[in-house]
Amino acid sequence: MNFFDEMAGVWNKTCRYDTGRIEKVLSVLQLKQGDTVLDIGTGTGVMIPFIREQVGHYAPIVAVDSSEKMLREASLRFPNAGVSFVRADVERDRLGGRFNAILLYSVFPHFRYPVDTIARLVTDNLYCGGRLLIAHSQSREQLNEMHKRISDKVFARNLLPVAEQVAQFTEIGLSVASFDETDEYYYILLQRVGRKLGASVADAIY
Ligand SMILES: C[S@@+](CC[C@H](N)C(=O)[O-])C[C@H]1O[C@@H](n2cnc3c(N)ncnc32)[C@H](O)[C@@H]1O
Repeated sequence: MNFFDEMAGVWNKTCRYDTGRIEKVLSVLQLKQGDTVLDIGTGTGVMIPFIREQVGHYAPIVAVDSSEKMLREASLRFPNAGVSFVRADVERDRLGGRFNAILLYSVFPHFRYPVDTIARLVTDNLYCGGRLLIAHSQSREQLNEMHKRISDKVFARNLLPVAEQVAQFTEIGLSVASFDETDEYYYILLQRVGRKLGASVADAIY
């Protein structure tokens, strides 16, 4: 059985979340009332209440996870939160719909094709001007150390220094709005920018 399926039943007992740090790192996404949000790697849905508080009661939230059992836990914990739960492996499956914001909290190291996957999510699933946040509420060193300890159980790449990761994104033309890493968090905020037509091209069309 996959590691996350195995862990689903005890996830909330074994993982401790620092609410203050989560709120701080989530604030980077600048969610507004009414924003539609795609929560990728939702797990047991730890981010759902934080997202809901910021986008209001009625904005659609879609929570995605590749682990059936994690997703089931999330749907049992938040049955009436106006969230659609979708089982998908975002590295393999194309997701439908566009969103104002995409959140990847504590999932990015588990991607085997991190740059391609993020590029596809930005292109396929964000509105122009939409934001995608890769976020952790621990330091890179803590995360890499923890993933090393469980490397026989689950695939996880070492997180790169944040500036190096950003360089990989910008090299392929993705737009990074901000990034930072400290002892308490690691984040990269990407934005989907609209392509404006140059005057001569626009003149030729209109
Ligand atoms: C470390 S857990 C974090 C869960 C949750 N975000 C949290 O902080 O409690 C990573 C989650 O991402 C999911 N995941 C990993 N790779 C994925 C993929 N390619 N597509 C969708 N979900 C994925 C796992 O099943 C797991 O539930």
